[in-house]
Amino acid sequence: MGFRYIVRQAKPEDCGSILKLIYEWAELGKDPDRVVQNTEEDLRDNGFGDHPIFQSIVAEAIDDGDSTDEAQRGTMVGYAIYICTYSAWTGGVIYLDDLFIQPAHRGKGVGKAMVCKVAKIGAQKGCQGMQMFMQGSNKAARQFFDGFNAVDISEKDGWSVMCVQGDHLSQLGNYLTEPEVKNDIQFLC
Ligand SMILES: CC(C)(COP(=O)(O)OP(=O)(O)OC[C@H]1O[C@@H](n2cnc3c(N)ncnc32)[C@H](O)[C@@H]1OP(=O)(O)O)[C@@H](O)C(=O)NCCC(=O)NCCS
Repeated sequence: MGFRYIVRQAKPEDCGSILKLIYEWAELGKDPDRVVQNTEEDLRDNGFGDHPIFQSIVAEAIDDGDSTDEAQRGTMVGYAIYICTYSAWTGGVIYLDDLFIQPAHRGKGVGKAMVCKVAKIGAQKGCQGMQMFMQGSNKAARQFFDGFNAVDISEKDGWSVMCVQGDHLSQLGNYLTEPEVKNDIQFLC
């Protein structure tokens, strides 16, 4: 079966298909410590609401052997989620949060095309770099990103990734409502 591929910006109506791919990636990754918590509505709100906090491109496979209109619309086989972030020292950074291509469509250049597109978006926004996190056990992803001359800054510069998660985040926010911390601090923001 011959496929051609389309890479395009995601639309709100793609969120259901993106979520299915997120679940597929979670199932294949088999990491018991990481659970998909997002719903389709979360993705729609967070990516396409009044104040989107992520952006996404998707890859569709179109079966050239089938010319019906439905087939022409394509099947979603991959997604990339990215955001623009900022380093006080070096400026804009494009952060590639997640990238997944269905196994049947790997090895055809689609993953590379997605990375190149995100890199281009970053360069157009004036970003100085592209960052991504991956688990140390994901050797395939490591080799994939090595091919783009990515440098492991945790190895090279000794960086650690710190994360305040779940209830601890709301506890931090709630700390400001405790009377004893009002002290001499006035917030104007
Ligand atoms: C990693 C992933 C996105 C690669 O997608 P893909 O469409 O198969 O990659 P491509 O076909 O575009 O390959 C691009 C290059 O990477 C290399 N590459 C791809 N997968 C590789 C692997 N498993 N091991 C070594 N090299 C690999 C290819 O040989 C190719 O090299 P070339 O440009 O010299 O020909 C895909 O395997 C995937 O979805 N993996 C699971 C999710 C994941 O690990 N995401 C990344 C971390 S969030």
